[in-house]
Amino acid sequence: MTRERRSTISGLYKRSLAERQAITRDWADLSAKDLQSLEEGGLALHEADMMIENVIGRYSLPFGVATNFLINDIDYLIPMVIEEPSVVAACSFAAKLFRAGGGFQASSDDPLMTGQIQLLDIKDRDRVVQIIEQHKAEIIDKANETAGSIKGRGGGAVDVRTRVFENTSIGEMIVVHLLYDARDAMGANAVNTALEHVSPFIEKITGSRANLRILSNLSDNRRAWAEGSIPASALGNKYASGPEVIDGILEAALFAELDPYRAATHNKGIMNGIDALLIATGNDWRAVEAGAHAYAARDGRYSSLSRWWKDGGGDLRGRIELPLAVGIVGGATRVHRLAQTALKILGVQSARQLAEVAAAVGLAQNLAAMRALATDGIQSGHMRMHARQLAIAAGAHTEDVVAIAKQMKEEGEIRLERARELVKQRKSRT
Ligand code: MEV
Repeated sequence: MTRERRSTISGLYKRSLAERQAITRDWADLSAKDLQSLEEGGLALHEADMMIENVIGRYSLPFGVATNFLINDIDYLIPMVIEEPSVVAACSFAAKLFRAGGGFQASSDDPLMTGQIQLLDIKDRDRVVQIIEQHKAEIIDKANETAGSIKGRGGGAVDVRTRVFENTSIGEMIVVHLLYDARDAMGANAVNTALEHVSPFIEKITGSRANLRILSNLSDNRRAWAEGSIPASALGNKYASGPEVIDGILEAALFAELDPYRAATHNKGIMNGIDALLIATGNDWRAVEAGAHAYAARDGRYSSLSRWWKDGGGDLRGRIELPLAVGIVGGATRVHRLAQTALKILGVQSARQLAEVAAAVGLAQNLAAMRALATDGIQSGHMRMHARQLAIAAGAHTEDVVAIAKQMKEEGEIRLERARELVKQRKSRT
């Protein structure tokens, strides 16, 4: 069922910052405190001092919202924290294209994390595997002694598997995988605690030595995927017809599928969107990055995280699938007020829903990049915001930034020296 509110807020970029804040406030019923946190950055210096070591300050980044997202018939405004120009605009534009095809269909696995215990000094490999298999239930029970509130919410350790590495340079190695349902948390702490708690028991029953006990970021039991189509009619521009643009995009997609050099950049574009959402919501984006790239190489050659094809009606269809270990409780989501505000704007009810939204955002970002690259190139869009950044770097007053950027773009001279000259001219006039 479609919610009444629609995220198709046209021309949001043309509104003033205050108007954009007001629209977002009304969208998510933000409190005065939420709005204040958007102004102040959501983290006091003394709170930052509690988060990491040797704190000397805080570091701000722009917080924007992407429009037009329709995922599983629900409208979303996507909070995005990112320093790179064009990403938010491109994401919103691509979401509009997907919307013309009915929006995204997204789904996800149960939130199953994978924890690893490295067993060494193995005397009888097959016997150790057998013992672990026979004691599965006890291992799970032991691991769950530390599960606390996650267990209360229906999560905790659910399965134990073994992987054998024969005759390595350090002898036989058996890796025990503990599958752990993290519910709405990312789960790193819960999993690592469980692994450290259960490993003496595993050492005792197997007579081996546990070396590393740590979660795996290749959380391929915790994937999300998103799919959607774009009508050919929505893809044409004044230089190329819709079917021609689709052909260009399919050529670009195949390039990324076949060539790791291109796949790395293609996937970087996908992660532009996903990371921006993960940073906004206080998630460990490095963990997701690690998992995404490892997953992209799962067949032995690094490849694209997305697949694109033409459907029976000649429209473009795309699909993305990647591990998305994200949470809506715990970690920085608890401490950082902007992470809480971002989750409020998003309105997701579970970690799985957040993962599904993230997958859709990645697919949208990917479409936007390929469409731009396969048509006009990405530089023209990039240059508008780049020109603004140069104007700011040249010391322009806030009210002059847009005009100076526009003039440089019209002159075809987007350079710091030119920005400085224009700033000087304007300052001498006042
Ligand atoms: C730039 O941040 C991302 C792109 O390079 C992605 C791509 O090439 O697909 C535009």
